[in-house]
Amino acid sequence: MNGFGKAIAHSNIALAKYWGKADAVRNLTAVPSLSLTLAALRTVTSVRFDPALAADEFNLAGVSVGGRPLLRVSKLLDAVRDEVGSATFARVESVNDFPTAAGLASSASGFAALAMAATRAAGMDASLAQVSALARAASASAARSVYGGYVSLGARAESAERVAPGAAFPLEMLVAVTLAGPKATASTDGMGHTQDTSPYYSAWVEAAPAVYDEVARAVHAADFDALGPAVEHSALLMHASMLAARPALIYLAPASLRVMERVRAFRYSGGRAYFTMDAGPHVKVLVEPSAAGELEVELARLEGVTQVLRSAAGPDAYWVEQ
Ligand code: DP6
Repeated sequence: MNGFGKAIAHSNIALAKYWGKADAVRNLTAVPSLSLTLAALRTVTSVRFDPALAADEFNLAGVSVGGRPLLRVSKLLDAVRDEVGSATFARVESVNDFPTAAGLASSASGFAALAMAATRAAGMDASLAQVSALARAASASAARSVYGGYVSLGARAESAERVAPGAAFPLEMLVAVTLAGPKATASTDGMGHTQDTSPYYSAWVEAAPAVYDEVARAVHAADFDALGPAVEHSALLMHASMLAARPALIYLAPASLRVMERVRAFRYSGGRAYFTMDAGPHVKVLVEPSAAGELEVELARLEGVTQVLRSAAGPDAYWVEQ
């Protein structure tokens, strides 16, 4: 092994959502999902295997991190060490260029970048599919961040697959950031709680594959009028299953609803834009490049919206030299 690897992966936002596990131990998803990888939201991660270390170390944005995040990092590193028959610990350094753990899918780009960097550092000649499988075991949405453009992860799938390059259907995403603080319930816990307590969870799992098919067909056909309503339906179906959990999982903040209302008003006045939301209060809005600037300004004016990020489709994850 050459001991060092560095990689960049981009965040992704699911257009057809994943929520819930078919196999919690192997982290296989209960429903198929399809996402758009975002150019403007990146994680840069380096891994150095060092025989002098007595344990793995994880440094996020210059701060040493322990506890559960470190355990998740170590688990991924263990899988890589098993693969190459090594017992050497590693120092991991990671930086996001967007707010962490607020439903902006930092775990997606984070674990994708980690899997890329760790396989390189361990001297594995890993394919993107292998990197995606390693990332998926750590965080299922991370499997999708290994690829650029439109990406799918099948129910119970080991790794994600490329659906279409971003250039085949050039849409943009506006991320209306409504709160910068850490989210209240991490997705892994939130989906476990939904599975355990929500009477609507089974309805979600039953309905999700058809919505996924609708999203996939619309992406293949580059048909925005078909894609948008399916994207909103997927997000709202997922949030309905969360709202029906006991106690309820409410990721919607007042400003989230304001953004959703604004997007609907934009449509009533003839514009084309559609929202989606994940396990946090921010709202992501899918829009054509020609309308993105106008809507960006409108969303930034809303009460409770602290920032609007604008992004086109991003590329595959990639290795960078030291
Ligand atoms: C709402 O991939 O973060 O963003 O596999 O437990 O790490 P784990 O969950 P994670 O869940 C993402 C959920 C979502 C929807 C999505 O990205 O598909």
